[in-house]
Amino acid sequence: MDFEDLVRRRKMTRSFSDLSVDPSLLRHVLDQARRVPSAGNSQGFDFVVLEGAETSDYWDVSLPAERRETFKWKSLLEAPVIVTIWADPDAYLERYSEEDKVSTGLGKSREAWSTEYWLVDGAFSAMALQYAAINAGLGVLFFGMFDKAPAIARALNVPPGRVPVGTVAIGWPESSGEEDGKSVNRERRPLDAVARNGIVHFGGW
Ligand SMILES: Cc1cc2nc3c(=O)[nH]c(=O)nc-3n(C[C@H](O)[C@H](O)[C@H](O)COP(=O)(O)O)c2cc1C
Repeated sequence: MDFEDLVRRRKMTRSFSDLSVDPSLLRHVLDQARRVPSAGNSQGFDFVVLEGAETSDYWDVSLPAERRETFKWKSLLEAPVIVTIWADPDAYLERYSEEDKVSTGLGKSREAWSTEYWLVDGAFSAMALQYAAINAGLGVLFFGMFDKAPAIARALNVPPGRVPVGTVAIGWPESSGEEDGKSVNRERRPLDAVARNGIVHFGGW
């Protein structure tokens, strides 16, 4: 698939078949996702990957049995792969304390950062993961951990201090006729800001 096709075909999948993803294909997708740019080349993000029956370690904590009945996207629970992405702020403080970066002052504290680059880099990796998976014919859904993040971190043995970026469900897309949800019907904002509500402000806002 060329890049333009990939960009146009990209959309979230909320309904998966129960077919597994070949471990070598999954490794290939994960390998592409780690090749993103990162501030100071800090690479301060980690993926915790659950496959097959292991995915219940995620769902048991994030969607307890009593909430499943009313959960709208039931076949999301069929996704054969769940990847949680965690950012590591300390990796950035350490990197920016090194000789070539110490003058920035960013090694001192998280508060010194006007933009939290660990989240930027973690989000870049999440996007690369999604594009790599879609390029391989797989479907993905990026979604949040919300207030369940601490419990998910405990269940998956995530070290203290890691910040949740989000979860990417990966699997083979299957049409279930389930509704996509209200957000999907929102129109894409136009390119030029001269149009009402456009995104790109050429020459200044
Ligand atoms: C940061 C972020 C959080 C999201 N959280 C959820 C979520 O919790 N549940 C969900 O169904 N979709 C979630 N989505 C998917 C969005 O609803 C979706 O990307 C948006 O409606 C546009 O649809 P498309 O990606 O299919 O083009 C999230 C997307 C992003 C980028």
